Amino acid sequence: MIDRSTRYMLLGKDGMLGHELQTVLQDRDYVAFDKDELDITDSEALKTKILDVRPDVLINATAYRDVNKAESEEELANLVNGYAVGKMAKICRDFGITLVHFSTDYVFDGLKKDGYKEEDQPHPLNAYGRSKLLGEQMIVDAMEAEYEGEEQPGEEGKYFIIRTSYLFGKHGENLLSKMLANASKTEKFKAVNDQWAKPTYALDLAQQTKWLLESNEYESGIYHITNSGVTNWYELARTLINDAGFISDVMEPCSMADWPSPAKRPQYSVLLNTKLPEMRHWKEALRDYLDEIKMP
Ligand SMILES: NC(=O)c1ccc[n+]([C@@H]2O[C@H](COP(=O)([O-])OP(=O)(O)OC[C@H]3O[C@@H](n4cnc5c(N)ncnc54)[C@H](OP(=O)(O)O)[C@@H]3O)[C@@H](O)[C@H]2O)c1
Repeated sequence: MIDRSTRYMLLGKDGMLGHELQTVLQDRDYVAFDKDELDITDSEALKTKILDVRPDVLINATAYRDVNKAESEEELANLVNGYAVGKMAKICRDFGITLVHFSTDYVFDGLKKDGYKEEDQPHPLNAYGRSKLLGEQMIVDAMEAEYEGEEQPGEEGKYFIIRTSYLFGKHGENLLSKMLANASKTEKFKAVNDQWAKPTYALDLAQQTKWLLESNEYESGIYHITNSGVTNWYELARTLINDAGFISDVMEPCSMADWPSPAKRPQYSVLLNTKLPEMRHWKEALRDYLDEIKMP
């Protein structure tokens, strides 16, 4: 049973989502670590810290997240997003700790025209997507392994794999903060208008994650959490720039094909949520984001 007395441990506290998870956990019993305090690829340190803290819930907001660099650093991406997560899951399973982990729309190839349900078959197009899928699989394998003999802890830990997409938030660099910086300059800039997904405000995702856990209604498994509404980077950036009071014709649409990059990206990686209440529309969340970053 997860309630106000639950002890949380958060990993990746300095990331975009990690910051917002700290915001929503402020009135809860939680301890949080950044990479300097705990590198999750150090298995011994990982186990020691988890056993020191003895949380009821472990939230993993760490990630190797450089999609292009992962193409040449696949081993490192697999280590952080895959094998380390597998070890984390094994510890959680052995000690009855509930594990929350975040994954991505990039586990899909984006070829399905009506989007992806939680149970759809993943097929990543790039190294980052493969590493995140490895993490998902290692969690399921570890958490669903049979307990043997006397081994089972008092209360069996659950797991929640939460896939999200197009994350934006106040902390850390993301495409939207770069676009706002560009919009204040005079030269035109381009954004892709043929890559579709559902944008997600990091604070909304953090709140929904806490709600999902504390409702105690949901089983272990894969969940899709995004804001509602499907868009592309061009429309998202145009809306942002308009709402921020800049002239939107500083932007020009372009296609994915005009923007060659080391990693292939899915064209229509829309995550369908068939399990949880819908979150608000991304346009509403975007206005809160602008208020948060206090544009002049
Ligand atoms: N951002 C998106 O658009 C997006 C979209 C879909 C899914 N997601 C998923 O959402 C989750 C949160 O993403 P985010 O945008 O908040 O990521 P982020 O801002 O890049 O934060 C990730 C954090 O993990 C830390 N980290 C990296 N390697 C580590 C290690 N070995 N040990 C401990 N910490 C380590 C990073 O530290 P350093 O910065 O010092 O390396 C960073 O503080 C991730 O699972 C990501 O895959 C994100």
